[in-house]
Amino acid sequence: MSTPTIHFLRRGQPVTLHNVPPDRTLLEVLREDLHCSGTKEGCGEGDCGACTVVLGERVATAGQDPQLQLRAINSCIRLAHSVNGLALWTVEDLAHDPHIAHTAGHPLHPAQEALVQCHGSQCGFCTPGFVMSLFGMYENHSRHGEALTRTQAQEALSGNLCRCTGYRPILEAAQQMDQLPTAPLDQLTVLQKLEQLPRLQSHSEGDFSYKAPTDLQELLQFRAAHPQAQLVAGCTDVGLWVTKQHRRFAQVLDVSRVAQLRRIEQQDGALHLGAAATLTDAFAALEAHYPELHRFAARFAGLPVRNSGTLGGNVANGSPIGDSMPLLIALNAQVVLASVRGERSLPLEQLYTGYRQNVMAPDELLVRIHMPLHATQPTVSAQAHWQLLRAYKVSKRQDDDISAVCLVLRVAVQDGLVTEAAIGAGGVAATPVRATLAEDALRGQPWSAATVQAAAAALQAQFKPISDMRASGTYRRQLLASLMTRFWNESQGHPATTLEQITVEVQP
Ligand code: FES
Ligand code: FES
Repeated sequence: MSTPTIHFLRRGQPVTLHNVPPDRTLLEVLREDLHCSGTKEGCGEGDCGACTVVLGERVATAGQDPQLQLRAINSCIRLAHSVNGLALWTVEDLAHDPHIAHTAGHPLHPAQEALVQCHGSQCGFCTPGFVMSLFGMYENHSRHGEALTRTQAQEALSGNLCRCTGYRPILEAAQQMDQLPTAPLDQLTVLQKLEQLPRLQSHSEGDFSYKAPTDLQELLQFRAAHPQAQLVAGCTDVGLWVTKQHRRFAQVLDVSRVAQLRRIEQQDGALHLGAAATLTDAFAALEAHYPELHRFAARFAGLPVRNSGTLGGNVANGSPIGDSMPLLIALNAQVVLASVRGERSLPLEQLYTGYRQNVMAPDELLVRIHMPLHATQPTVSAQAHWQLLRAYKVSKRQDDDISAVCLVLRVAVQDGLVTEAAIGAGGVAATPVRATLAEDALRGQPWSAATVQAAAAALQAQFKPISDMRASGTYRRQLLASLMTRFWNESQGHPATTLEQITVEVQP
């Protein structure tokens, strides 16, 4: 079975790796093969951020010159082959990359210098991950003199855990980077060098251990010929099967390099999201139309997970506690499945047949998700016709956590009557589900406390959630009614009682 050679760029030099098994993680290659032990392993499951590295990718947008896109990712759950054709920075590289223009007399990168000045490093184990997340923030914001707010810094560092309560100085460091002597990366030169790397291997006959086609038809042909190959996109769940369940994959088919699958388009009042669009990009497109989703999007795992994970991966994976599906159900999304035999589409909730089971044939792939764009108002409107969208996530921890219950509601009201109700629920059944009974209890009824009470009862009647380590079944059922009531309160202009509404003053 042929194993492709991996080529990537590090410190401005091409790195070539031969015979890397298809399921070897990037962190294993970094630490064990390349001896980059600055990158640490904490949890091995994308939760702690100790393994954070930054990837640079050449991204071409129609009508624009290619750009270098820099994103922090978790190397522990990313497969090594996925960095083929990309640039990579570990914590060791910031002082030694010839394309980072340090100000004379300042050998440390501002991401490192700021942590030193703010006393933001205590244990040294989580610090490399924080430095790399800060490096990503520096390149995307601070190097342009853009001052980060505390909230932006918190959201960008949401995937990095500090176990010794060192967040305050770390957040201060994030906000100080823009004031330090600069050290910008020469992105143009990195882009040029990326173009000189050997091209991704295209179509070849015969068996393969890792294949990342760049064309959709080619991908579908490979899928038809190798239905047993493990599909991966951002690998933020499959990576855990490797690190936690010690599963091995002889053949991996990577869908993330197909340009058609990464496309995001808005057309004729609808949004079309390619299945391999990252969660970061997909949520940015959703937020552009629904700014009210910002906090929900920021609470979907941590930033490094969103930078790797894909919307299609989350949907196809079908976990009952995946956060994007309740939202997409409430937005009346359709999924498009494709194979060499053609395409078909169906409502997203009809994709699932049981716990992590779906209607896809062995040769089919999820290629697109599309949805009408609804005319919601970000806040409650006093007009006779309004439409409100709210996405509620309840988890033990505010950030970087998995939902106990996720409930997304979209209700339209005209002259006091409910004209449309769409509700998606997660964490309450074996699959993500549409809350049909509650929708029926709302549609055509006056928008009133009594109607909402009936809808809350319908939610509780439809779902009998299980108890597990995230919440008891009783608590989950109670939450369904409470969240329905919260939606009612918000529709009446009462401020939501959420953590986001509480401001903590930080004394200098
Ligand atoms: Fe914890 Fe990778 S080691 S996120
Ligand atoms: Fe590493 Fe806090 S500085 S755990």
